[in-house]
Amino acid sequence: MPERLSPASRVSGEICLPGDKSISHRYAMVASIAEGESRIHNYSTGADCHSTLACVRALGIRADEQGTDVTIHGGGLDELKAPAADLDAGNSGSTIRMLSGILAAQPFTTRIDGDESLSRRPMERIMKPLGQMGASISARDGRFPPLEIRGAKLKPIDYTLPVPSAQVKSCVLLAGLYADGATIVREPVRSRDHTEIALREFGAEIRVERRVITLQGRPRLTGRELFVPSDLSSAAFFIVAALLVPDSNLVLRGVGLNPTRSTLLDVLASMGASIQILNVEQQDGELVGQILLKHSRIRGGVIEKETTAALIDEIPVLAVLGAASEEGLDVRDASELRIKETDRIATIAENLRRMGIEAEVSPDGIRIPGRQRFRAAELDSFGDHRIAMAFSIASLVADGPCEIHGAEAASVSFPEFYRILRQVTA
Ligand code: S3P
Repeated sequence: MPERLSPASRVSGEICLPGDKSISHRYAMVASIAEGESRIHNYSTGADCHSTLACVRALGIRADEQGTDVTIHGGGLDELKAPAADLDAGNSGSTIRMLSGILAAQPFTTRIDGDESLSRRPMERIMKPLGQMGASISARDGRFPPLEIRGAKLKPIDYTLPVPSAQVKSCVLLAGLYADGATIVREPVRSRDHTEIALREFGAEIRVERRVITLQGRPRLTGRELFVPSDLSSAAFFIVAALLVPDSNLVLRGVGLNPTRSTLLDVLASMGASIQILNVEQQDGELVGQILLKHSRIRGGVIEKETTAALIDEIPVLAVLGAASEEGLDVRDASELRIKETDRIATIAENLRRMGIEAEVSPDGIRIPGRQRFRAAELDSFGDHRIAMAFSIASLVADGPCEIHGAEAASVSFPEFYRILRQVTA
């Protein structure tokens, strides 16, 4: 059923959003290879993080869920069991790419596959370093899922990432846990560092100097209790909603503010957004705080280079904001957007077009002139969660009700999205 969304007169209230997707994946994976019980509070409710839980269960790990608390009974590095069937990563690039690092070190062969969107996403980026470490991996057409991963005794490597990708970095680090000696990952651009933080929390020896990460292999990881902050990338939809809709005043509590994730807030503030950050504290190595937002006039501007990489997941909703900004938004160096859950440059441009918004697309970017008006339209998620949510926010400022086909895609990261959207626009 398509979702029907009406224009909003304001966005207001105080909300606490579900747990961070990136952090939840990592806690579940690391807890599965740590010794003893881990209790993870506020685990992501999204389907992607449940794909990770299903995979670790298929590898013989007990994972009990009670609401959003997950208890994982890990046995240590060497206690995973060969799965009885192919693993299913669903729609989740993080699951397939990061878990492959662990699978590459197992004394058995695993096949891992996903849905139709995942089976079009490139995997050479992890096959290459894992191959250098000693695993042998075959893929459809040499680069797409399903992957068949023949595990091996891994060697440590010194690897410079050819693409700025936290998933690839994490994959190599998780594999490095199983290699004797030091595995080194060098990043051209700093990417989200939740894996480094999580590994340290579970007891690994890991050093980060500038953009060089050094991990000692074969650590003793110990189960523990952890809390997952709210997902800033999910919060981004509500942040943009509050900035866009006149008279808005919104408070987001308990949001993850890790500096490798919060570039969005810096960029918005530099464009004139009224954003206040309060009560920042550290929780299990991650920063958490409160965000206060008010409707603001946004200047717009250029997003490029490392900035693009640092807010790649937020670009769909920033594109919407860009069309309403004073000067428009010019997103450059964004070729990675073309290989996300959909070709996001194409799916953003198509939905903008349906709303009567002009945009100019290039192979690695999109330029959206400012001061444009959103026309009511029939929109499509194209099966992509972030496209569904970004254009739900655009609907709030359209000149009439919009319909979003495939709106249920939002549940990949944020099943509560429409309920909370109705609550803050009521
Ligand atoms: C993620 C990293 C990013 C991001 C994805 C989640 C992660 O992908 O787009 O949604 O949790 O590490 P890349 O690492 O491929 O850039």
